[in-house]
Amino acid sequence: MLELKNITYRVSSPDGGQTILNDISLTIPDHKLVVFTGPNGGGKTTLAKVIMGLVTPTSGQIFYNGEDITDLGITERARRGISYGFQQPPRFKGITVRALLTIASGNESLSKDQCCRYLTQVGLCANDYLDREVDVSLSGGEVKRIEIATLLARGSSMMIFDEPEAGIDLWSFARLTETFEQIHQTRTATMIIISHQERIISLADEIIVVGGGELRHRGTTEEIFPLIMADTLGSCPVLSR
Ligand SMILES: Nc1ncnc2c1ncn2[C@@H]1O[C@H](COP(=O)(O)OP(=O)(O)OP(=O)(O)O)[C@@H](O)[C@H]1O
Ligand SMILES: [Mg+2]
Repeated sequence: MLELKNITYRVSSPDGGQTILNDISLTIPDHKLVVFTGPNGGGKTTLAKVIMGLVTPTSGQIFYNGEDITDLGITERARRGISYGFQQPPRFKGITVRALLTIASGNESLSKDQCCRYLTQVGLCANDYLDREVDVSLSGGEVKRIEIATLLARGSSMMIFDEPEAGIDLWSFARLTETFEQIHQTRTATMIIISHQERIISLADEIIVVGGGELRHRGTTEEIFPLIMADTLGSCPVLSR
């Protein structure tokens, strides 16, 4: 179980600073699929980075499986089973897709078949990609899918995906949502998916609307989705409550 208690993140600037996350408290039980959605700049990525340890909150505490992990770094959190797929994944010049999957899995003798399985789950063919370098020669959608495959290879107990749909074609997206559905059904991991995508939102046990650095609303797909869909042109009715 993941617990955030009164998480606040402030950044300072010459004109006085800004509160990016404001007193966020949240509990996510094991094996749930939770979607964070909300307006651009609302604080979703920052919240995910706070969970992963990429951003240090100004105040508040984070507990994972009962342990206070607030002061733990990224590596220690990864060892405890938390992983995060970046909204804009980094590239690794000189490292092949196969090497990246091997490092992620922690299994030095990861077979081609196993690599193939992870790549297939994100709609890529191993034959075309295993020996490619994860450098600028890969398209945005390819690098995004390869990063998601590394999260699958890692086999984490908590996976955080930051807009996994971004830049991904419709066919690969369909394959990817099947993968999320499968992970959810087999209860092998807790998933936090940051998304603006209807299909992903509809998979969620719970939707959390993040706006203005706060949790504006939370509820089931049935409760939240119609409210979001009802107001696609003006301000979101969920947010104005
Ligand atoms: N280090 C920082 N310094 C100043 N502002 C920051 C910093 N980090 C984040 N912000 C601001 O905090 C707000 C939240 O950013 P964040 O990336 O979390 O939004 P988001 O909800 O993920 O948006 P999107 O849907 O566009 O990905 C934005 O206005 C962003 O510019
Ligand atoms: Mg973001």
